This record gives sequence, structure tokens and C-alpha cells, in this order.
Amino acid sequence: NTIISLVGARPQFIKEAVIASEVHKTNAWNHILVHSGQHYDVNMSDLFFEELQIPTPKYFLEVGSSSHGKQTAAVLEKFEDILLQEKPDLVLVYGDTNTTVAGALAAAKLNIPVAHIEAGMRQYPKNMPEEVNRVVTDHLSSLLFCCSELSYQNLQRENITSGVYIAGDVMYDLFLRMKPRFLKDKMLQNLTLHEGEYILVTLHRDFNVDNKESLLPILEGLNDYAKMTGLSIVFPMHPRTRKRIEEFDLATYLDSMNIVEPVGYLELMGLLEGCSNVVTDSGGLQKEAYYAKKQAAVIMPDTGWKEIIESGWNQLVPGNAAKELLPRILENKFIAYPVNLYGDGNAAKAIVKNIMTYLNK
Ligand code: UD1
Ligand code: UDP
Repeated sequence: NTIISLVGARPQFIKEAVIASEVHKTNAWNHILVHSGQHYDVNMSDLFFEELQIPTPKYFLEVGSSSHGKQTAAVLEKFEDILLQEKPDLVLVYGDTNTTVAGALAAAKLNIPVAHIEAGMRQYPKNMPEEVNRVVTDHLSSLLFCCSELSYQNLQRENITSGVYIAGDVMYDLFLRMKPRFLKDKMLQNLTLHEGEYILVTLHRDFNVDNKESLLPILEGLNDYAKMTGLSIVFPMHPRTRKRIEEFDLATYLDSMNIVEPVGYLELMGLLEGCSNVVTDSGGLQKEAYYAKKQAAVIMPDTGWKEIIESGWNQLVPGNAAKELLPRILENKFIAYPVNLYGDGNAAKAIVKNIMTYLNK
């Protein structure tokens, strides 16, 4: 059997790493890795391949950055050529990026079954690019691997009922496996900070960073939060956000923050282990915060990871309320830790087993 995994953005490299190592154990498949090139900076891509020892992709599509239509179309066109050449039995796609939806569409049009990792996630606003990608990808997939019961129910509501499994979160698998290697001490040393002295911040959502009116109250809220608590801010900054802050001339709001380049997985998880709290609009980091038993303010009007919100562990803070709400976020600090919201760390095993059963039918 030949299986192709298509990745292209930071969160997909780490998800694929877990699946690839599980596939490797089975010794039963030819697993081909394709990189769309949606993310291309060394610290947005190569870093993860090195650190997590992900084998070099067989194909690089080099699509780079552009508008949604152009980027999605470029992946669609180039990935189709590879599918025609390699004739895989199944295509694996991950998460909710433009690379994900393009890969699913290219495969579906060629009648190649698609397996979607992280299926059934739903959130408002409906027109958010990632939500469009998720809905379309799920409706094109033959195998759908959900992280939670809630994702499973979302699919049921859309009449997607066959090939759906609750597998748990592959990012939890990775978190548990890599935990002994997290670089907390190195990161604290580099930043000359002590444990618990800082808030870990990441931001990159289009609706938060792409216009000045959205971005400004978030930066103000962060500054007020830091001032009120006496905590520092450590902010590994996505290139999108960096470009916008320059464009909108907001750099002075960063004066009291530790702004660093995007860091590798082991470095980020080290920063997470050492922090007091998290402020983020990252899908991945809001779950990782929970895995690390750190509470996160999620700068979004809604999230697909509702289980963590409903348990009271993480809190939603819409960007336009960030100035008012962020400084008060620590008021709700003492919440019982909700266990096993996204499986037990064996998601990849369950996923690979189900794919094998499907292919052997
Ligand atoms: C994409 C995904 C998002 C995911 C995020 C993970 C879509 C629609 N969005 O958002 O779901 O959460 O990846 O990080 O697929 N850039 C660089 N260097 C890079 C990559 C990007 O400078 O290596 C800059 C470019 O200016 C680019 C901008 O960042 O235009 C946005 O990149 P893009 O991949 O389009 O979206 P992300 O915000 O990264
Ligand atoms: N990440 C990292 N370094 C960073 C930022 C993120 O290693 O500087 C990892 C982290 O594990 C995170 C994942 O990349 O969960 C995806 O990050 P991102 O926020 O870019 O994407 P999202 O999960 O929102 O799609």
C-alpha cells in the first residue's frame, strides 16, 4: 500500500511526525511525505524537521505565500500531478489549513480516499478561512479521525456518519513523548527569567492581527496585564504578526515585551512549562497549555476546543474585549484540572490501526 501525507504549515509538521513514526512501526506501507511549502522560513519549517527527526519530504511543491485562492489553487494543481504519478491508495491530510483543503480536493477529484486527522472541529465565525477548510475537508473525507466526542457529534449533525472515529489528539501523543526533552532550563537561561515569571504569548489569526483596530486592543491588554501582575511577556512572533505590527506602526507596544523569533517545538514547550499563564490564538497552543497544566486566555470569539473552555480551564477573550478582560484573567485561576479531554496519548496508534483495517478491506 502507498499512502501520501500532505503537510505545509507548522502545526502539520508536528502532527505528521507522530503519525509517520507509528506508520513506520507497522512496516506495511510505503509512506510518502509531500510538503506544500505554505510555510517556508527556516524557523517555520526546517526547524521542525530537524528537531523532531521528520524524514525529508519526497516532494516540495514550493507554493509559498499568496492570497487564499492562489495558494489553495497552487497546491491543488501541483499535488494532483504527484497523485497521478504515485497513485496512492490513500491521502492523509491534517488540520485546517489551505494545504489541507487543497490536498483533500485533489485526492477526492481523482477518487482517492482521504483520511482527515483532527476532523469535526467547528467554530465561529463560519467564514473564518480555517472553518471553511475544515468543513470542506470533512465532507470530502472517507476516514475522519476526531479528537473528541464533541467533534464526532459535529459531524453527525452534518450527516457525516460513516468512517468517523474518536481517536484522541495526536498532539497529546507528541507532548507526552517529547516531554522529557522540553527545553525549559535552556529557554529560562536564554531569557534570564525564572520559572513562573512570565506570560507566554502567541498571536497569528487573521481576524486578530490583520487590521490595526483589532490588533491594538490586544497589545494594550497585554501591556496592562503585564503591568498589573508584574509578569514579563515572552512572545515568539509569527512572521504574519511581525509584518502587521511594522505596517501599522505599533512597535512601541512591544517595548516592554521579550519578542523572539518563532521557536522550535521543544523550545516552545520549554517556554510553556516555565510560564505562569498563556495568552494565545493558536489552536495547538491552547491545547498544549492544557496538557502542560497552564491556563490560557484564548484570544478568539469562539474555539473548536470547547471542552477546555467548558471545563473552566481556558477562557475565551474576544480580541475587542482583550483590553478590558486580559488584566482580570488571573481572577479565575483556581479550577480543578479536567483530565483526558483529548484521549490518552495513543491517538496515532488508533488512527493507523483504523487506516490499515480500511485499506485491507
Ligand atoms: C496558516 C493557517 C492557519 C494556521 C497557521 C499556523 C491557513 C488559511 N491558515 O496561517 O490555519 O493556524 O498557518 O501557523 O491555511 N509567512 C512568512 N514565512 C513563512 C510563512 C508565512 O513570512 O514561512 C508570512 C507571509 O507574509 C504570509 C503570512 O505569514 O503571507 C501568512 O502565512 P499563511 O501560511 O498564509 O497563513 P498563517 O497565518 O501562517
Ligand atoms: N509552535 C512552535 N513554535 C512556535 C509556535 C508554535 O513550535 O513559535 C508549535 C506549537 O506546538 C503549536 C504548533 O506549532 O501548537 C502550531 O502553531 P500555530 O499556532 O502556528 O498553529 P495553529 O495550531 O493555530 O494552527
